[in-house]
Amino acid sequence: MEGEGPGSRGGFETARMIVAPLRAGDAARLFPVLRDPRIYTFVPDEPPRTERDLAARFARYLRGPADGAAERWLNWTARLRWAGAYVGTFQATVHRGERRAAIAYLLGPEFWGQGYASEGVRSLVRWLYASGDVDAVEATIDPGNARSLRLVRRLGFSLVRPADATGTRRGSPTDELLFRRRRRGPRPGALR
Ligand SMILES: CC(C)(COP(=O)(O)OP(=O)(O)OC[C@H]1O[C@@H](n2cnc3c(N)ncnc32)[C@H](O)[C@@H]1OP(=O)(O)O)[C@@H](O)C(=O)NCCC(=O)NCCS
Repeated sequence: MEGEGPGSRGGFETARMIVAPLRAGDAARLFPVLRDPRIYTFVPDEPPRTERDLAARFARYLRGPADGAAERWLNWTARLRWAGAYVGTFQATVHRGERRAAIAYLLGPEFWGQGYASEGVRSLVRWLYASGDVDAVEATIDPGNARSLRLVRRLGFSLVRPADATGTRRGSPTDELLFRRRRRGPRPGALR
């Protein structure tokens, strides 16, 4: 993994991918991947209808939370190192005061079943721990999202609780599960 130092918004590399901070122009590159409705079966977002839709969504991500919010929004694009094809996006919302981050990941269906998401999330978790701001990484997952459930279990996340049913997706209550993985070992920079 190649971070750019603790707390930075840099990118990182995995064995097969370059994971780079999201930029305003990325909608054109990601729209052909992220328009696929199969990606949104178990996530709260709607598929972007047009490239402009996706550009507006990315612009919101890049603006970040309202002033004064105690969280940071980090967004990355992932592309294959050798072929250059865009495979999807990774996100982290860092709650610094609580020393935790909530992550999300969206990959185009043609890239499922090849280990890319696991590879990306494993490096993302390491990157977040290395930032020094995060001791726990969380993922909220729909109980029907078997692929995502397999992914977090494979990477050592544990079920914390069935999330309460106060969330909504497209107007309906959800009963999403909350998974958490705690940092093991000393904090980066901590005295040993
Ligand atoms: C969730 C999602 C990212 C999971 O993708 P995925 O490709 O199934 O996940 P992984 O990268 O962990 O791949 C694991 C599969 O690749 C296989 N695989 C093949 N080569 C592999 C390799 N080199 N390394 C690891 N796994 C490999 C594994 O055996 C496993 O197969 P299985 O699904 O039949 O058990 C993907 O389905 C997705 O983007 N869904 C839509 C968005 C979404 O739901 N996001 C999550 C919201 S919580």
